[in-house]
Amino acid sequence: MANRGSTLVTEDEITRQEAFMHSVRELNPGADKKYLISTFGCQMNENDSEKLAGMLESMGYIRTDEMDECDLILFNTCCVRENAELKVYGHLGALKPLKSRRPGLVIAVCGCMMQQKEVVEHILEKYRHVDLIFGTHNLHKFPELLYRAVTGDAAVADISSCDGYIAEGLPVRREHSVKAWLTIMYGCNNFCSYCIVPHVRGRERSRMVSDILDEARFLARQGYKEITLLGQNVNSYGLDRKDGTSFAALLHRLEEIDGIERVRFMTSHPKDLSDELIYAMRDCHKVCEHLHLPVQAGSSRILAEMNRRYSREHYFELVQKVREHIPGISITTDIIVGFPGETDEDFEDTLDLVENIRFDYAYTFLYSRRTGTPAARKTDQVSEEVKKKRFEELLNIQNRISNEINSKLAGTVTEVLTEGHSKNNIDMMTGRTRTNKIVNFKGSADLTGRLVRVKIDKTGTWSLDGTLV
Ligand code: SAH
Ligand code: SF4
Ligand code: F3S
Repeated sequence: MANRGSTLVTEDEITRQEAFMHSVRELNPGADKKYLISTFGCQMNENDSEKLAGMLESMGYIRTDEMDECDLILFNTCCVRENAELKVYGHLGALKPLKSRRPGLVIAVCGCMMQQKEVVEHILEKYRHVDLIFGTHNLHKFPELLYRAVTGDAAVADISSCDGYIAEGLPVRREHSVKAWLTIMYGCNNFCSYCIVPHVRGRERSRMVSDILDEARFLARQGYKEITLLGQNVNSYGLDRKDGTSFAALLHRLEEIDGIERVRFMTSHPKDLSDELIYAMRDCHKVCEHLHLPVQAGSSRILAEMNRRYSREHYFELVQKVREHIPGISITTDIIVGFPGETDEDFEDTLDLVENIRFDYAYTFLYSRRTGTPAARKTDQVSEEVKKKRFEELLNIQNRISNEINSKLAGTVTEVLTEGHSKNNIDMMTGRTRTNKIVNFKGSADLTGRLVRVKIDKTGTWSLDGTLV
């Protein structure tokens, strides 16, 4: 932990947390304490949950999927849209009877939602069966906070604001054995006018290149074949370090790691998608032919209102350039419908963009008003009814396009990284193409973690079926 630069958690702090992990273990002598973590939101939250699980297992906790046998239930929350928050309140409310039956059960809530003061106050007041609340900036203090929650009587709430710390060296208990999330930066500087993320995740903080490479090498040694680099805007990776590091340079360094076969990343902001990055994607063989490039809206006027800092025309030019340099690349996107002030004409611009770009897939969202963001204060909010109508229309068009694009793959042979058994059918294995499409095929479990060639027989909107060749 020495010589980690000024923005990182000190060796003392980590040692202190290790001492708490030990203390919690001592508190549970011989008992098999069981835990369950329920994660909402994006991949960065999933990666945080893997670290929380890693810390819990270091404290002797064992994972379970059965709420009824839990000694600890932890919700890692998201607040990007209202329905993500409503789900958490629903789950919390439903736990009241269990907590009455089992007073020793510890109920904890963490994540983005907890970075909002009014949410914490609401939970402390209305959900009195909650024992522990903490935010996104003090994840590494979880062992200490849990110790306090287990040994004390009152609820523990510790919501620090961002102090620029990055905790390195936390234990991680990963969900998958073939592909791994690797967070390269935290926070966001962009303040899109609809978005709460910069308010709850703080400013951009990039990890050191050497820490990222160490983690990637460690993953390779453990047999991981694919890594996905995570950040709210990976294209601006390194800019805060002011040491000349760039995301493109990082991709070149990862290319050298033996054992890692595939590198993916998300998310890219169009305003920061540089030529240097496009060339790096073209030149680094391990970097997959897939780009998730959220457009959000097809009308330049709405894009300006959203504070996205690119125009519709610029987006078209970017996609054209990317396709020129990386033939066959799949492009996916995020789109918001019903941003305040969105007229029928603005929405037509979005449909027109979708028809012309032809995304492989689009994640579409109804605009959700987030307290504290500039868009929430706008008076020209679009009615729920209009939003829903537009949403359906967009979804139908995009589903048709995804289906058409996939249908062209019938008969082709493609490289698939086998991830394991298919969820729906135990006889089938599942994996992804380099372009991030799901492929199901007949095969045995020993193919897990292997790159295989599959001939595509049948195509659908969301997945492909094939045969091993
Ligand atoms: N940093 C990423 C995405 C973060 S959130 C990026 O900028 O692309 C994931 C997606 O949620 C966003 O791309 C956006 O489409 C959607 N989103 C964010 N805030 C929203 C809101 N208030 N209402 C509806 N969708 C929202
Ligand atoms: Fe939110 Fe915009 Fe930052 Fe993405 S880039 S997290 S949409 S503010
Ligand atoms: Fe949600 Fe936080 Fe991710 S608000 S989308 S979990 S960064």
